[in-house]
Amino acid sequence: LKGFVTLDPEARVAPVRRRLFGSFVEHLGRCVYTGIYEPGHPTADADGFRSDVLDLVRELGVSTIRYPGGNFVSAYRWEDGIGPVARRPARLDLAWHSTEPNTVGVDEFMRWCRLAGVEPMLAVNLGTRGIQEAVDLLEYCNIESGTRLSDLRREHGAKNPHNVRMWCLGNEMDGPWQVGHRSAAEYGRLAAQTARAMRMVDPKLELVVCGSSSSSMPTFGAWEQTVLGETYDEVDYISAHAYYEEHDGDKASFLASAVDMDYFIGSVVAAADLVREKGKKQKRINISFDEWNVWYQSRLAAELPTDSWPVAPRLLEDQYSVLDAVTIGGLLISLLRHSDRVHAASLAQLVNVIAPIMTEPGGRAWRQAAFHPFALTSRYAAGEVLRVQPASPSQKTRRYGDVPILDAVATVDDDGQASVFAVNRSPAEAMTLAVDARTLGDARIVECVTLSDPDAYRVNTADHPDAVVPRPNTTATVADGRAELLLPPASWTMLRLA
Ligand code: AHR
Repeated sequence: LKGFVTLDPEARVAPVRRRLFGSFVEHLGRCVYTGIYEPGHPTADADGFRSDVLDLVRELGVSTIRYPGGNFVSAYRWEDGIGPVARRPARLDLAWHSTEPNTVGVDEFMRWCRLAGVEPMLAVNLGTRGIQEAVDLLEYCNIESGTRLSDLRREHGAKNPHNVRMWCLGNEMDGPWQVGHRSAAEYGRLAAQTARAMRMVDPKLELVVCGSSSSSMPTFGAWEQTVLGETYDEVDYISAHAYYEEHDGDKASFLASAVDMDYFIGSVVAAADLVREKGKKQKRINISFDEWNVWYQSRLAAELPTDSWPVAPRLLEDQYSVLDAVTIGGLLISLLRHSDRVHAASLAQLVNVIAPIMTEPGGRAWRQAAFHPFALTSRYAAGEVLRVQPASPSQKTRRYGDVPILDAVATVDDDGQASVFAVNRSPAEAMTLAVDARTLGDARIVECVTLSDPDAYRVNTADHPDAVVPRPNTTATVADGRAELLLPPASWTMLRLA
């Protein structure tokens, strides 16, 4: 197989947006408790935050973290999570059939964000609650002082406002599984009213309205149009959520999951622009792809507790294989390629729950295979995104028909440093990739690493945390501005040139 890409600094898509490398911390399973927070752990700081996890979060290079849900938020009372911990109530978490101890709440999360060096992005509950509670949380978080709720925050030790800029108006309100699920018209109305009230507090907030929970929702498309019809003037982003998994050993379709993500993004952009055109609006609504990942969702029903309400049970603790990690690398390529309209994204989630970082209670923290393509893309995608139009043969897939075997995107910064991210989607055949980088002058290879394994299902575990790591790709050569390298079957590669 042969693949080909050309770097053309004129073919700019948009700047690389740091918010594309966001993630998500939900009160779900062990994401918070024994994930980011575990008092008594040997690495815990005075606030109970695990320093080993914080180190990995920093290494992962995440930017914005969405909190506290997810489905959890739709029955959450944020007031339960503030003030002296001993007085906080334990509550039923309806979404995940668990008990929420409320030991961690918004103030703890903000402290953790500062330690991790990330921007918080909060979701308000529009399932069981509404405008007033959303505005109250905003007052508690962002008003300096002199009001009941801002002074309460100060009493709780947070003298300075949390200054949260990005807010999600509920979560997956199109999903029948969501507590307080509504029709598009009902939700659109409530979201618009909530947004208006929140903007009365602070007009500069960046607000995300709920789009579809996946492109296979029966309401997909119509939902976006109706919801944006109600909220267009009040919001900045519409959300998109997508999870992928391998079905019945169909590796070729799974490796091509980015084809679906491309389609999904294109369709949401079309719906948003249709509402814009109809209403003769000036501004554009962009996408916050605030949940995306590989998730073996088909296993969920068997995992959920039904006859008990445990605290922090093991839920959604998917182990990511090489194949999963390569697919995730491909999804990042899709997100980068659409940086003109996807302005934020959150890998769902961060720790233990469908996560790049795993922990054992009282034990070690380690990187899943999926950690690596994310961390490298976040670190080395810089400057401007370039459309590279990869050329390669196609392969037939059960889900998406004929798809190009090669997928790739590139970035180039002001110093002429370029990074090419490429996926060979063939489960069985290697590909020779030629990169025409003559526009960079006499380019040299700074680094070339590949994630692949003869066993596509190899995973990292607590005992073998580095079984899957990207390895130097020693086949890469460059001469006269043309690079050539071998992409193994089912592989993800990063080539850096300068
Ligand atoms: O990320 C796991 C769950 O997936 C979230 O709680 C929900 O929003 C989505 O369905």
